[in-house]
Amino acid sequence: MKEIKVGLIGFGTVGSGLAEVLLTQQKRLEKRSGLSIRLTKVADIAISELPPRFADVTLTRDAKDLFSDPDIDIIVELIGGIEPAKTFMLQAIESGKHVVTANKALISQEGWDIFSAAAKKGVEVGFEASVGGGIPVIKALKEGLVANKILSIMGIMNGTANYILTRMTDEGAAFVEVLKDAQEKGYAEADPTYDIEGIDTAHKLAILISMSYGMRISLEDISIEGISRLEPIDIQFAREFGYKIKLLAISRNHDDHIEARVHPTMVPENHLLASINGAYNAIHFTGDMVENVLLYGQGAGMMPTGSAVAADIVDIARNIQSGSINRVPDLSYLPDQIIDRQITPMEELFCPYYFRITAMDKPGVLSTVSGILSKYGISIESVIQKGRKESGPVPIVIRTHRAQESAVEKALAEIDALEVVASETVKIRILEDQE
Ligand code: HSE
Repeated sequence: MKEIKVGLIGFGTVGSGLAEVLLTQQKRLEKRSGLSIRLTKVADIAISELPPRFADVTLTRDAKDLFSDPDIDIIVELIGGIEPAKTFMLQAIESGKHVVTANKALISQEGWDIFSAAAKKGVEVGFEASVGGGIPVIKALKEGLVANKILSIMGIMNGTANYILTRMTDEGAAFVEVLKDAQEKGYAEADPTYDIEGIDTAHKLAILISMSYGMRISLEDISIEGISRLEPIDIQFAREFGYKIKLLAISRNHDDHIEARVHPTMVPENHLLASINGAYNAIHFTGDMVENVLLYGQGAGMMPTGSAVAADIVDIARNIQSGSINRVPDLSYLPDQIIDRQITPMEELFCPYYFRITAMDKPGVLSTVSGILSKYGISIESVIQKGRKESGPVPIVIRTHRAQESAVEKALAEIDALEVVASETVKIRILEDQE
């Protein structure tokens, strides 16, 4: 049986998960591919030895030992971040190795350099694990949905943020405690602000947008808001209004322009995405032929992500075996078909809104606030003010009908400038029932 040899850079959470998958699933992979896929070398600077069950795998501190090894066919980068990951990927490609990564920051920001270097060298780039952890979303887009014009993408794409929001919702748990837990479980990025501030979700959305619409997009094109300003009180009010708060990535294809945004969103309780809990992710596409597709699964973690990396390795191994390297273009569209498109300015967005205004409890405050909203054409759907304070501010919570983001921005700037308003208003966009 032909052997395909794999070198791995980075034996952290996902790296060790991949090693386990390749070891424990070896026979299954043989039955499915007719190939013996073996991890032969690991490069890592943080460990001094590999667990005993990997006795036949060589450990080195120097990634160059992998590039210079003529027996290695595929090099997997699992160290994360831009550098030295990018340099390692380019060196591996330059050495004629196929490459696989789970690195969404790298693919979303530096992908073009990597894809063009790989195209020149005639090698493949696998990045299934960069979006949705164990969910085979990249393969679904490249192959299963190939006959569709993708009309929209919407999803929960960060396990850590969803885990935090779920535990805050279900247990009233404190943000910091839950984040610590998510880090211990290996869900969070090395820098967890990426998870909390929506950056990791934006990396993943950028990758899906490129592949769905055949376009270039950079991170700066995506409007990004995270969950760090949310408080338990917002989660409680959301529940009273019949919503759950989720960190959503949303993109709609308007042909001549594309929406691209990541923000906390109030999702109606009966919506499918409201039931996605813990570290699970769910990615919903609409295609012109297929209509709705929902992909659901573990969005983070050692074994699910290891499974996705292994799937890329098997794909490449099969292509090596059948002499069909680059049978499927990396980004689903042929490189010369990828175009630039306009991004819809956020100010043009229309949706219902939730506002939590923190103001002194004085006669006339509510009418001043509603006067400002009415001046900007923003119509109130309902208002809640709970508690009474002789001194000190109270939350005034407002749900609006559909309004334009530009009007909302102006109105909130005016409201927040009022003397009676104690802190910046929290604004959460609401997903409409039919979306
Ligand atoms: N930190 C990421 C998450 C890992 O929590 O979803 C998977 O990309």
